[in-house]
Amino acid sequence: MTQTTPTQEHTALKVTHLSVDYGDVHALDDVNLTLQSGKLCALVGVNGSGKSTLLKSILGLVKPTTGTITIGGLNPARARAAGRIAYVPQNEDVDTTFPISVEDIVISGRQRHMGFLRRPRKADKNAVDQAIEMVGLTDLRHRQIGALSGGQRKRAFVARGIAQDAQLLLFDEPFAGVDHASEQTIRTLMRGLATRNKTLLVATHDLAGLSTFADEALLLAGRVLIHDTPDIVCTPEILAQVFGIVANKSTSNSTEN
Ligand SMILES: Nc1ncnc2c1ncn2[C@@H]1O[C@H](COP(=O)(O)OP(=O)(O)O)[C@@H](O)[C@H]1O
Ligand SMILES: [Mg+2]
Repeated sequence: MTQTTPTQEHTALKVTHLSVDYGDVHALDDVNLTLQSGKLCALVGVNGSGKSTLLKSILGLVKPTTGTITIGGLNPARARAAGRIAYVPQNEDVDTTFPISVEDIVISGRQRHMGFLRRPRKADKNAVDQAIEMVGLTDLRHRQIGALSGGQRKRAFVARGIAQDAQLLLFDEPFAGVDHASEQTIRTLMRGLATRNKTLLVATHDLAGLSTFADEALLLAGRVLIHDTPDIVCTPEILAQVFGIVANKSTSNSTEN
């Protein structure tokens, strides 16, 4: 008699013994992480703790020094080619001088669906319209990216992720430089995606309201300090410890020894 659709939980993302170096900078150290489908995991940590590096490694944009990453059983390059991963970049990584409209951004999420000629079909157009409507940008769909507010731009990328129908969605600081209304819209959309069995990894240094928003939280300081429920991760003791650890880490970067 139950009305709920049974969704099968499976491993959506598995990161094993991941280390990343940028020349002399050891950005990630032996990171292990498993995420199940339908879960929203907040990736928290101070600036420089490796959040963006982890997301870029999962996307295949950064090459690991050691370790493996699988997305639904595929490696990052294959998963990306198959359209399994959607990425909402941080605002600083978006070229706002590029002449591209909201609609163009969202259509780019349909590339893998469009077939050989890359010409949008009815299903693609519908998916694009629906996604733009969901993020509340219908009136601005022809506006250029450079003429959008930070929050509107972020919503355009969220719409791209929705239109893409990816299994794993990666968000890099989605609430930074975003107005309150956009933040609420994005939070609600993210929860809706998790309900539809999508997996979300959301890098943020914004800890407010984490326990109502995220299913789990992973605290990063170059390595994984703790990965548990937000309530357990966000205790004052643990957070104080993190700032201590990061301060120690940066002083140990000194070449003097
Ligand atoms: N392209 C790069 N070249 C060299 N070092 C980098 C590069 N990107 C990031 N880093 C360094 O790697 C570490 C982790 O950075 P990042 O992943 O951006 O952290 P976060 O997103 O948590 O702020 C920092 O010490 C940063 O300075
Ligand atoms: Mg970052």
